[in-house]
Amino acid sequence: MLFEPFKIKMTEPIRILSKDEREKKIREAHYNLFLLRAEDVMIDLLTDSGTGAMSANQWSAIMIGDESYAGATSFYRFEEAVKKITGFKYILPTHQGRAAERILFGLVAKKGMVIPSNTHFDTTRALIEYNEAVALDLAIDESKIPSVRHPFKGNMDLNKLEETIKKFGPENIPLCMLTITNNSGGGQPVSMENIRETKRLLSRFKIPLFIDACRFAENAYFIKKREKGYENKSILEIAQEIFSYADGCTMSAKKDGLVNIGGFLALNDEELAMRAKNMLILTEGFPTYGGLAGRDLEALAVGLNEVLDEQYLAYRIGQVEYLGKKLLENNIPIIEPTGGHAVYIDAGSLLPHIKPENFPAQALSVEFYREGGIRTVEIGSVMFGKKEESGRFKPAPLELVRLAIPRRVYTMSHMDYIANIASEIKNRAQDIGGYRITYEAKHLRHFTAHFEPIQVGR
Ligand code: F0G
Repeated sequence: MLFEPFKIKMTEPIRILSKDEREKKIREAHYNLFLLRAEDVMIDLLTDSGTGAMSANQWSAIMIGDESYAGATSFYRFEEAVKKITGFKYILPTHQGRAAERILFGLVAKKGMVIPSNTHFDTTRALIEYNEAVALDLAIDESKIPSVRHPFKGNMDLNKLEETIKKFGPENIPLCMLTITNNSGGGQPVSMENIRETKRLLSRFKIPLFIDACRFAENAYFIKKREKGYENKSILEIAQEIFSYADGCTMSAKKDGLVNIGGFLALNDEELAMRAKNMLILTEGFPTYGGLAGRDLEALAVGLNEVLDEQYLAYRIGQVEYLGKKLLENNIPIIEPTGGHAVYIDAGSLLPHIKPENFPAQALSVEFYREGGIRTVEIGSVMFGKKEESGRFKPAPLELVRLAIPRRVYTMSHMDYIANIASEIKNRAQDIGGYRITYEAKHLRHFTAHFEPIQVGR
């Protein structure tokens, strides 16, 4: 039986709000969960980014942080931890993942260029587009169908990648990315074989491979469990092999760094590293702290070591799987198999009576709060739907609700509670109505939009 491989030394109270109070709070937040105060949320599944709990060892490392501006001892400890796992020559700390992406794409992405990936995360895509290049998602077709089971649903489609290279020309592809695990595609892993073959294909055209490494340890664990030949390898060995096929990586350490803030850019190309270092100095800080405090670098050095612990990963992936299984037992449709950091509910199938333009996934997110004080995130037509110039509404490909599980924060009984709430919602699914937007910003509207409920059948 699965249980948390840690004891809890410090607790944080959860304020239990009554249903009436929750109804009032969500109305006051204009039915947008981003506008709730965290103190009014009972279980917060908005993201697994920076929301994890640090260990006693990390907290004690914080006390020995060296806050020197240049040459801090903490930097060298951090650098050693990253080098041990990735083997890259140049390690640049940044305050979070998108800062590493901004520096990298600011240097290599130019107008007319194309940057393929299995699936770009929102910030990667936005930063590529900000630099007037094109971001392409080339994951295998299975990744697009929630109910199709595939052990490595995050894999790159190698045929599509080769076609893309031939169509645009290797000179217009400054690098290729692999996001592990594939967050936007459901936290699905990429196999070692696929990473190796992606590298082999790119090498033929001299295109560098970069890894978006936020959840590299979770991906390594899936390889150990699902890919032949890796059963007896350690997570560290698997991670080292993954990075050995790449020329660099960007990392949001707020995920598998097990810290609340931090990130890095790591690479082998000396000339590019020097240019990146200069940008780092210009926009983040001196290369031995890069926008972080010495104590943050210490906590990260310890976190990068702890995340390689197989018992931790068995609990981590097992907890997500457990929640997914409970939902499936209650006939709640999810992306299968469950990924590394989150369960994605297929709200389009659960609430077929709500049209995409009335945001079924937003409606389901609101119900999770209303019914159980649970905050989730909509990944559907609020986030990705568009009004075309003709005035016609173009829905997102899928209407999903993501239940992202913070690391080492919630227990198995919290998972049972979440599954119970989901069943309560399912039992009255046909009575749940859609929403319309009453205010929206021009970009990234999901963060600030206001909604109002519409009646069922209208
Ligand atoms: N790449 C991936 C795959 C991510 O999931 C994220 C963040 C980033 C890059 C950017 O890192 O936030 O440190 O700047 N994902 C969070 C999420 C926000 O909720 O999935 P960042």
